[in-house]
Amino acid sequence: MPLAQPSERIAQISTRNEWYNFERKLKIFMLTANTNSIDCLIVPSIPAPKVEKSASLSKPLKLGILASGSGSNFEVIAQAIQNQEFNAQIPVLIYNNPEAKAAARAEKYGIPSILLNHRDSKTREELDTKIVRTFQEYDIEWVVMAGWMRIVTKVLLDAFADRVINIHPSLLPSFPGIRAVEQALAAKVKITGCTVHIARLEVDSGPILMQAAVPVLPDDTAETLHARIQVQEHKIMLGAIALIAESHQKHCD
Ligand code: GRF
Repeated sequence: MPLAQPSERIAQISTRNEWYNFERKLKIFMLTANTNSIDCLIVPSIPAPKVEKSASLSKPLKLGILASGSGSNFEVIAQAIQNQEFNAQIPVLIYNNPEAKAAARAEKYGIPSILLNHRDSKTREELDTKIVRTFQEYDIEWVVMAGWMRIVTKVLLDAFADRVINIHPSLLPSFPGIRAVEQALAAKVKITGCTVHIARLEVDSGPILMQAAVPVLPDDTAETLHARIQVQEHKIMLGAIALIAESHQKHCD
């Protein structure tokens, strides 16, 4: 199947109608990364665009990252930016859990990190208000929930309308919520995977940007399956951000 040319892609993603247009243009394609089986099936999206080195490009897209845990998705984004794979920057990482390894990863890349411990906020709205204020101070344009283990509210979603993305370790709409990998194993599905989507109020819902399918193997535990899902998460996270950065670039030109 011929891949979409850059000119065929939607130039801006900022309103709901534009999202509908965007979704109409989605292509289905397969990546076979393993000789024996399909390793990854990216279901409904445009392939990650081949992006020019960013040195000569205009204003980088400012991404604000939210992370609660290990931060491996955050790190692949930081590394891709360092490699100039897309024209973006991460002015700040916010984490909510003092134990989050994401903070050490931020330090490695010279990215400022701010702890907003959810225990210091009485409500979810109060935490989100602090997040919005912080991101606004750093002129953040898009928000990436890269393993953010808090339910977000209207406060965040309205402040960054249609500009908050989330990654989830299942093929949504299957298995939303916590312990998605365990849910997939309990349901005895043969294929699960991961999803990057625009965040909406309902947990793990919203327009899907990219998905990758991962076969469930007979001996899989939650750990082994999650490890293989994460390999694919890193690919679709970068694919989705490349797409957003490209749209942003066109918007700026
Ligand atoms: C990922 O599996 C993501 O799908 C889920 O939380 C995990 C975060 O992993 N929402 P990491 O912190 O990016 O390594």
